[in-house]
Amino acid sequence: MDRRGFIGAGAALALVPLLRQAWAATPAAVDHAAMGHGAMGAETMPAAAALGLPAGLALPALPLLRNQSALPGVFSAALSAGAQALPLLPGKPATVFWSYNGQVPGPTIEVFEGDEVRLHFENRLSQPTTIHWHGLPIPAEQDGNPQDPVLPGGSREYRFTLPQGCAGSYWYHPHPHGHTAEQVYMGLAGVFVVKSRKDPLAHLPEQRLVLSDLKLDADGKVAANSDADRMDGREGQFLLVNGAWRPQLTLGVGERQRWRVWNASSARVLKLALPGHELELVGSDGGLLQRPHRVDSVLLPPGARAELVVTGRFAPGHGAGLLALPYRRGKMMSAEQDVNLTLLELRRGTVAKATAQLPARLREIQPLGAPALRRRVVLSEDMANPQAMFLINGKTFDMERVDFHGKVGQVEEWDIDNQADMDHPFHIHGTQFQVLARRNNGVWREEAFLAWRDVANVSAGETLRLRFRQDMPGLRMFHCHILEHEDAGMMGMLRVQP
Ligand code: C2O
Ligand code: CU
Ligand code: CU
Repeated sequence: MDRRGFIGAGAALALVPLLRQAWAATPAAVDHAAMGHGAMGAETMPAAAALGLPAGLALPALPLLRNQSALPGVFSAALSAGAQALPLLPGKPATVFWSYNGQVPGPTIEVFEGDEVRLHFENRLSQPTTIHWHGLPIPAEQDGNPQDPVLPGGSREYRFTLPQGCAGSYWYHPHPHGHTAEQVYMGLAGVFVVKSRKDPLAHLPEQRLVLSDLKLDADGKVAANSDADRMDGREGQFLLVNGAWRPQLTLGVGERQRWRVWNASSARVLKLALPGHELELVGSDGGLLQRPHRVDSVLLPPGARAELVVTGRFAPGHGAGLLALPYRRGKMMSAEQDVNLTLLELRRGTVAKATAQLPARLREIQPLGAPALRRRVVLSEDMANPQAMFLINGKTFDMERVDFHGKVGQVEEWDIDNQADMDHPFHIHGTQFQVLARRNNGVWREEAFLAWRDVANVSAGETLRLRFRQDMPGLRMFHCHILEHEDAGMMGMLRVQP
């Protein structure tokens, strides 16, 4: 059967839930071979080893986007999106990416709280695009909504001022109607760091780690999405860090480093661990936590960020570096991640470095007060309906439909109820939320600590209770951050009234 034909064939799609049940009954059968390569649109990726992508190089630094303004408190620069061939596989022709300013990942934007940001953007792609400033509290009309496309050959300026208190690790990526997944996997994404002038961790050496997926076809080209990718969310043969495969980083014994980590993959839920070392979670999407939390692992859904403080211990018997531990997210057409993946290899520094202090208090986070209103948001899947497979409150995204009306300054409480079979990471634009509690198997559990987030994984069968406040009027998208699901319509709109 023609692989392309699969998604359009309602009859074939109706089989998927049945197949899924069969697989669930026999977990051992859930692998590529059992699914028959290509027969049901399943994976046909060439193996990583066959492609010859070099591994083990030094961790690439992320180049900064240069500020062209001489005015204090103003950051001004230009970004353009276009095709760019980059050498990737030795002895093979260069691989074509779509990139910001010719770089994959895109140039890093680094500014301070309170800065005014002016970005001149030019679209040299053959598709409409936008730049969405993921997680930043900025005006809706500057936020790269799908309603505001920049056409091929077109340009615009994005302009916004970053409020005090928003220091954190954000990112930017395209958000055009229906083409977000493709534009991101082709290479369009970059990080956006907002710094505070009173940063309690400024004394620590900092590493920035952008995790992204690369899926190549047998010719070394960036592969198109398969049917399995459209269903499950795309995963590739390579999980890259700053564009490199399993790069190496040196850490001294006793040395303490601050790591900012971005999950810029389309769909992977990463359960990060660093066995043999000390790991402290100190920040989430919207900046620092109130205090450090010693952890064994950190769950980072697609789109989310974490700030970690890592202390080099090199405990005997470990030695691996940064790992993604096995995690099952309910995929239907492709294999689950059942093994550890090494993201980054750590080399023991020759000279032991003094262990820098880690402050006991990082900042205050005020809990959001009692909500002015409550809403229920049900996530579901209808595999028998290829036009509307991924649903929010029974509906697929419609650019003409506003799903909810809210008010500036009002606290809202949302229950995100995932009645589907896959995990769906929930994201909302324009603000940060606080997760209060989660319900699994009928039991509510309070969240262990306060954090500002803009993405939270909602696993299959789970209900997540969160609160947020929107401080600016306008149209705000909320959606699943598996980009293929977003493109397929698992997205809604909140209109915030002045
Ligand atoms: Cu990072 Cu609406 O997306
Ligand atoms: Cu966003
Ligand atoms: Cu989803």
